[in-house]
Amino acid sequence: MAGKVKVLLVGAAFSADLHMDAYARCRDVAEVVAICDKDASRISALAQRYGLAGYEAFDDFGRAIDAVDCDLVDICLPNFLHHDVALAAFAKGRHVISEKPLATTTGDGERMVAAARAAGRHLYYAEDWLFAPALNKALALVEEGAIGKPLYVRARECHSGSHSPFTQTVRYCGGGSMIHLGIHPIGFMLSLKKNRWTELVAMTSGGGAANLVHRTMEGEDWAGCMMRFEDGTTALLESNYVTSGGMEDVIDLYGTEGCLHLDLTFSSAIQCYSIPGLAYSVEKAEITTGWSKPAVDEKFNLGYVSEIRYFMECCAAGVDARVGLRGEDGLEALRVVDLIYRSAREGVAIRNDRL
Ligand SMILES: NC(=O)c1ccc[n+]([C@@H]2O[C@H](COP(=O)([O-])OP(=O)(O)OC[C@H]3O[C@@H](n4cnc5c(N)ncnc54)[C@H](O)[C@@H]3O)[C@@H](O)[C@H]2O)c1
Repeated sequence: MAGKVKVLLVGAAFSADLHMDAYARCRDVAEVVAICDKDASRISALAQRYGLAGYEAFDDFGRAIDAVDCDLVDICLPNFLHHDVALAAFAKGRHVISEKPLATTTGDGERMVAAARAAGRHLYYAEDWLFAPALNKALALVEEGAIGKPLYVRARECHSGSHSPFTQTVRYCGGGSMIHLGIHPIGFMLSLKKNRWTELVAMTSGGGAANLVHRTMEGEDWAGCMMRFEDGTTALLESNYVTSGGMEDVIDLYGTEGCLHLDLTFSSAIQCYSIPGLAYSVEKAEITTGWSKPAVDEKFNLGYVSEIRYFMECCAAGVDARVGLRGEDGLEALRVVDLIYRSAREGVAIRNDRL
């Protein structure tokens, strides 16, 4: 591909902001030529925030995909819309980035992967954890033998509840905290183990009136899953919406000769005591008064900046992403979430029948 990758960004709110920040840092390889959101005010606010000029604006993704001359469509819309946007983009011959989860059902995910294949285009799955510098440093330490033979991983993403209304219903979100937050630790583990998991068993709060706190939310507000992998290692993965104080992205790795503890969100070099409070400290923090650890470069530390650059480079070279970041990896993460819900519902352990 000659020149910069031309991008149609679909969505102009929370995750679109994460992606726009990354596009603003890779203007040498990418150009956002159009933005689509049904709320036009969000488009102009987003463009203004990142000094984007000369872009086209749309309020309908079908019309945008039809009209915009681009190489790639970047989907930052609610989960249930990933499928429809991706299929429209592949029909037009565009590459696609899909935010997590790939879709709300494995059926939709399978159709997305098949459509990419049929169109001869790439479906890139945006699992930002795989670009978090701290996590990559930890994996390099594991690789050099710092903790001996890896045995066990414990990983979680938790906060006090999503800002987005679509997360409240299973139809629009696909489930509760496990599909929306737990998909990160799942994606990380599957990528680490090249999708070679053998068995899982899970429990959730159940959703609705059975939830711990969020009783009007259809999906579960707490979920935990134990997984075993082909090489004998195990993992304990957790997600919940009952954690106050800001988003927790925490990973612990244990080996025969040591262990590693990572905190992706609260490991700032700054400690601040503020009586009036800060404008912002970390994602989902309810208050910023008193002692806090304001993030230094949150979007970089959580991987978004390197993730977008990587996808732009893949797209420019016309190649698929590495394991963990391909459409089929997003699909496997979705299949695991589906089985987690089945395991919790039926009270059974589930073996991977695809190994
Ligand atoms: N990787 C991450 O860490 C991360 C973080 C947050 C969200 N996400 C993912 O990003 C996606 C979007 O989540 P969000 O938090 O940005 O949601 P959001 O609610 O902040 O934004 C969604 C936007 O989509 C627009 N929209 C809704 N329906 C539309 C339609 N039919 N046509 C055009 N625009 C429409 C809304 O107006 C809104 O601006 C979700 O899949 C979510 O899981 C990923």
